[in-house]
Amino acid sequence: MDHFHYRDHVLHCEDVPVSELARAYGTPLYVYSEATLVHHLQRIQTAFADVQPLICYSVKTNGNLGICKVMCKHGSGFDVTSAGELYRATLAGSPGRKIVFAGVGKTDAELERALLAGVYLFNVESEEELHALGAVAKRLGVVARAALRVNPDLPPKTHAKTDTSVKGVKFGLDIETVLDVAKGVVSNPSLQVRGLHMHLGSPILSVEPYRQGLARAEVLIPALRAQGHPLDILNMGGGFGINYRKNEARTAQEFADVIVPAVKKLGCSLVLEPGRFIAGNAGILVSRVIYGKESGGKKFVIQDAAMNDLIRPTLYDSFHRIWPVAPASHMPAPPEDFESEIPGTEAVDVVGPVCESGDFLAKNRRLPPLTRGDLLATFSAGAYGMSMASNYNSRPRAAEVIVSGGTHRLVRRRETLEDLVSCERDLG
Ligand code: LLP
Repeated sequence: MDHFHYRDHVLHCEDVPVSELARAYGTPLYVYSEATLVHHLQRIQTAFADVQPLICYSVKTNGNLGICKVMCKHGSGFDVTSAGELYRATLAGSPGRKIVFAGVGKTDAELERALLAGVYLFNVESEEELHALGAVAKRLGVVARAALRVNPDLPPKTHAKTDTSVKGVKFGLDIETVLDVAKGVVSNPSLQVRGLHMHLGSPILSVEPYRQGLARAEVLIPALRAQGHPLDILNMGGGFGINYRKNEARTAQEFADVIVPAVKKLGCSLVLEPGRFIAGNAGILVSRVIYGKESGGKKFVIQDAAMNDLIRPTLYDSFHRIWPVAPASHMPAPPEDFESEIPGTEAVDVVGPVCESGDFLAKNRRLPPLTRGDLLATFSAGAYGMSMASNYNSRPRAAEVIVSGGTHRLVRRRETLEDLVSCERDLG
């Protein structure tokens, strides 16, 4: 469900025509729907209401302060993975007690900053990190709450670059080592091992990996308690997939049906770290066609968004629906199934201006005929779009706007050429 709809042949975000936004703010432009963000957060809040989870929006998904503020206002906490994300969560108004901190390479300086901010839970990924956390906490005279992140060693379930719970990845503690590592800190007065954490990968389109991960937790948690750890938190991470193509995603309720009974049985409180489920379908990337051309028997649509704006297609071979913002009335309506044969369309590669053959938003995609100046919408771009954007080819990063009902607000201005060199120190 989202709030991007065609009305009178123009794509609207909530009640605002996307063409009007492109005119006002230029392209490439990220457009987010506030109602969609809130709707998806509430889907999770409702589905898991029985166990009153701490929902921590995963800042890496889309850390724009405007979005973080919407999350905060509607009761979400935050999952952060760096001092920078902690800074964003705090600026958005979150108290430390609603922030959890993951990541394999937290520095002492980051641990210190997070302890001073009163972060609720450190998702610890290695034995060395656990001892470093204890040492920093001791120096500061505080007690750190840790969740041991376990790699439950499950079968592959998503793209190799985003699967975090198969053997041989850098994340978490190998499942066979968790108890040994935990034993080493039983009597450390600066550390409380309060939780077990697992983030299984992203995006996950089946409940099965959660079922398998929970089965591992049901063995580990009693064993950790038997060692004397006050273990009362289960953090199941993020990973809930979304509909990029059609109806491939599971609902929040389907995930809850698997997770909630296990949480009750274990007598734990639940933390969740959803990102994509909340922001993915709440955002689109709007771009403008610059040229069309043919080469080697193929047709190319060259538009002004590139791999530096949205790297997912080239990095993960990800599929994003694309359709004109204002298709002429004789053009076909946006299809239910973007991978079907769509009458009145032709197969094109949608590419950007960056100097790499890997710079594309879609390959061999059926689109209505397009001409210079036409606007395109690339859908499901709210998660891992802008947050993974770069200045490659010295391209200023896009602007971001949030729509709410009939109003819109710029939440990140377009970068300028001066911004591109603003950190450099040899300006002559
Ligand atoms: N918690 C932890 C510890 C994570 O590492 C992640 C994502 C999340 C939560 C949120 O996962 P989500 O609910 O969004 O699936 N750039 C890739 C995705 C990388 C995910 C990294 N970790 C992509 O564009 O598909």
